[in-house]
Amino acid sequence: MYTFDTDAPFIHDDSQYLIGTYQRLPVEFVEAHGAVLTDSEGRDFLDFLGGIGAASLGHCHPAVVEALHRQIDRVWQVGNYFYVENRSELAHGIADLLSTTTDAMGHVVGSTSTRWKTFFANSGAEANEGAIKLARRWGEKNLAGASTIISAKKSFHGRTLATLAATGQDAFHKTFLPMPQGFDFVSLNDVSALEHKLDVLAEGGKQGACAIMLECIQGEGGVWPAENSYLRSVREICDDRGLILIIDEVQTGFFRTGAPFSFQLAGIEPDVVSQAKGIADGFPMGAVSARAQVADLLGPGDHGSTFGGNALAAAAGRATVETLVSQNVGEHVIVVGQHLADGLAELPHVSEVRGKGLMRGAQLDIPIAGDVVDAALAEGLVLNHIGDSILRFLPPLVITEGQIDTMLGKLKEILERIGNGN
Ligand SMILES: Cc1ncc(COP(=O)(O)O)c(C=O)c1O
Repeated sequence: MYTFDTDAPFIHDDSQYLIGTYQRLPVEFVEAHGAVLTDSEGRDFLDFLGGIGAASLGHCHPAVVEALHRQIDRVWQVGNYFYVENRSELAHGIADLLSTTTDAMGHVVGSTSTRWKTFFANSGAEANEGAIKLARRWGEKNLAGASTIISAKKSFHGRTLATLAATGQDAFHKTFLPMPQGFDFVSLNDVSALEHKLDVLAEGGKQGACAIMLECIQGEGGVWPAENSYLRSVREICDDRGLILIIDEVQTGFFRTGAPFSFQLAGIEPDVVSQAKGIADGFPMGAVSARAQVADLLGPGDHGSTFGGNALAAAAGRATVETLVSQNVGEHVIVVGQHLADGLAELPHVSEVRGKGLMRGAQLDIPIAGDVVDAALAEGLVLNHIGDSILRFLPPLVITEGQIDTMLGKLKEILERIGNGN
């Protein structure tokens, strides 16, 4: 059992000099490899959060470390007016992943002939900003200026103002009003509510819809999956009405669910896909990809980023994506993800397990999730909770069954103890 020194100097420095937007746990990590984090006291922790779903290949994966070392002595940042190594190779790799087809488990079965083009940004929110601009341009060019983007209640698309406006959770909007205009919401998995919303908006001319924007599994909202049949209906509705379908793969992308991208599990193909988190194994990077007909609506001057896709990020991203593919990480995720889900379902106070691959949510039947996360930290486990009764698991994709079993054993004991009021 670990104890923490809450008088440690780093804790005081943090609250004195940093804006208090995070409630931090009392631990300072100084090293990380694979799925193991090491703190400043030399204690090891098994990581089931993975830098909030970013450490796809595991912390400090040798292939990414080598790519960054190679790049760091040569050139980092020249701006997007110039070519740099690895940027177009990474975009090519992403295009190949986006045109992959899988079965409903995530096993690769083939590919489409869709041509995908990518814009590189630095985060998930920025990736979605690009997606929103593409949708508005689409509405301007093809739908007589229709501008509304419909997303789902309980969704999460980022913290910039436009992505916050696209986020279907009032709690995030309340104290930052007014929100940017042109966003509306429907309940996930309700096809008739979506059609009704589109009919009402269509009567409003420029307020009509230009795009639908969804996560295939709502992550921040509590790990709530969209049904495959719903996603297929949304695709059909978009086709019938000429809208574009944006899938936010920021949390679900890059094999998190077993498939390269989660939309592939439903057998659909979106028009625009936003990405970040796992794209560069934790090095800051975001991307928005669109099929060529949509991507080509943007030209010089329409969008940009000083840092997006710079030489360091491109090197990290290329090494990550190539290694994810060459190591067949998706197949590993399918197997260990099922092992995690089965193990969670056996635990006391777990009433439901949701999600796919290594993106899982355990619904608790009592509101103890925060206490469980605190207790787990003291036992050398990094866990995460959403609200007071959902535990969320986003481990590095290289996590082993043995590491999962170690976590499950400790979590069982913690749930029993706290669940019994001890
Ligand atoms: C689905 C989804 N979209 C967008 C974002 C925002 O990404 P970032 O924090 O990199 O801006 C997140 C972050 O959790 C996310 O889960």
